[in-house]
Amino acid sequence: MEIISHFSLPTSHFLKGIVPLFMNRTAIYPGSFDPVTNGHLDIVIRGLTLFDRIVVTILCNPTKKTLFSVEERIEMLNVSLKNCPNVEVDSYHGLLVDYAAKRNASAILRGMRAVSDFEYEFQMALMNRKLNREIQTVFLMTSMRWIYTSSSIIKEAARFGGDISDMVPPIVDQKIKEKFKEGSGSKG
Ligand code: PNS
Repeated sequence: MEIISHFSLPTSHFLKGIVPLFMNRTAIYPGSFDPVTNGHLDIVIRGLTLFDRIVVTILCNPTKKTLFSVEERIEMLNVSLKNCPNVEVDSYHGLLVDYAAKRNASAILRGMRAVSDFEYEFQMALMNRKLNREIQTVFLMTSMRWIYTSSSIIKEAARFGGDISDMVPPIVDQKIKEKFKEGSGSKG
């Protein structure tokens, strides 16, 4: 009992920053999703154990050229996530933290595969925190099964006819095959 009362929530000003966090458990899961992989879906599903709602948002990564257009990526995400309750798919052009604030989200959700991801993720998280201190970045470690899965490596394997069917949702497997049959390049 004593322990419980010791940790019970204090009142007044301390609660000012905390209460909205409890009330709004929306997370933005941002990325290029070019295309969505089973590793991404794993993060969404596990993220739903922490958040009431996840908005999977396609954002522009200025360092990347994309294979699929935003519309194609949205379609693949919508089909892949159609059975996930409390998940929405969206796209945004601009700063991630501005979008998160606009959607009243308390957190940015990111998956981390290996140590090699850390520096980039750390930089992004710190920059986002500098831009908006009210939005927290939450990292989930990718499940072991998807540790070597990335959109880039999947595209490279598929480009040369490699079988990627157990690493992506069926819609992605189909679209990627169509894309490389068309011999099409980057859509930007
Ligand atoms: O899947 P990716 O390509 O690793 O995702 C990176 C992404 C899109 C989340 C990142 O580039 C991003 O947040 N872009 C939006 C612009 C922005 O807010 N940049 C400031 C954070 S460094």
